[in-house]
Amino acid sequence: MLPMTGAEVLDYDPDPRGRRSARQAVAAYYAARGVRLEPEQLVLTTGTSEAYSFLFRLLCDPGDEILVPAPGYPLFDFLADAECVRLVTTPLVYDGAWQLDLATLEAGMTARTRAVVLVHPNNPTGHYTTHAESDALFAICRRHRLAVIVDEVFLDYPLQSVAAADAASFLARPTDIPVFVVSGISKIAALPQMKLAWIAVAGGESVEAASTREAALERLEVLADTFLSVSTPVQVALPQWLAQSDAMQERICARVSANLSALDALLAAQPVCWVSRLRAEAGWYAIVRVPALQTDEELAMMLLERGVWVHPGSFFAMPQAGWLVLSLLTPQDEFAAGLRVLLEAVAQQASEQERDQARRR
Ligand SMILES: Cc1ncc(COP(=O)(O)O)c(C=O)c1O
Repeated sequence: MLPMTGAEVLDYDPDPRGRRSARQAVAAYYAARGVRLEPEQLVLTTGTSEAYSFLFRLLCDPGDEILVPAPGYPLFDFLADAECVRLVTTPLVYDGAWQLDLATLEAGMTARTRAVVLVHPNNPTGHYTTHAESDALFAICRRHRLAVIVDEVFLDYPLQSVAAADAASFLARPTDIPVFVVSGISKIAALPQMKLAWIAVAGGESVEAASTREAALERLEVLADTFLSVSTPVQVALPQWLAQSDAMQERICARVSANLSALDALLAAQPVCWVSRLRAEAGWYAIVRVPALQTDEELAMMLLERGVWVHPGSFFAMPQAGWLVLSLLTPQDEFAAGLRVLLEAVAQQASEQERDQARRR
């Protein structure tokens, strides 16, 4: 329950970084995951969008550039536009698993580049940035004097086991370059409507890194103080929501895993394998490959007419046509029923296309 009465809630004594008790609860959330973080390293925001907006203002002047791997979270375009920052995408490559193309990423850097944004694990590809990749990325960013912003909203939702170091928060990956981790309760506690997220400012132990971190925190504090946007009741409730989030996460993980297994079973049962899925290590989504007989959007609209909601891959900047993104959060019976409609529709279209081609030959 959201407390709306009581001395704590009615008292207005704002701390620009967020109430200390709320920041302590976030630090405890990280401590439970083996990450040491001081409440002083945190700034609370009303959502990750506000966190991004603060970070883009902190790191960029108008016209500066941020590098973002694609496919990825579609909101970045809008967030960057709103701050007059240019978003430059750099491709992720898939070869049985997703990975950063670090050479292309570095080639995409210009004198105006200020930061690289990663989503770890990524939405919608569901892959973690491995420890080896982050080490190599840190070296590149050190050379170009860039910061790294890492969105970890899906970190608590593994779908298959990977090396612990690869699934670990970036807050547990030592570096001297500025690293800003963004997360929040929309996914951690499944409470998107409560609007609470945070920026955790990492950075190494060297004197230079510590002073960069303090300067960033002071500037973020001014930005946060300008808005004081996180409401008191939500901050008061945060420790309880975080304390209860394990139970919610278990239920979500169970449903997402069950849906992934149902997807695999239905894909394996196709008489002809028109649809396949990509490896997913974490998160709430599955990417499926379908025959590219029309644009992803046309296919999504056709399925919508049959009562099935899917995301077109182009929505997440998938490289070509023929990709759909499925939410694994759907109730299990609805997911299986929707999937049957999808498989039937795709098989029907693909076999009609084959017959047409045979007739023309
Ligand atoms: C990668 C990623 N970050 C952030 C969010 C949203 O977070 P918030 O509700 O805190 O703005 C989403 C929502 O789907 C997301 O996919």
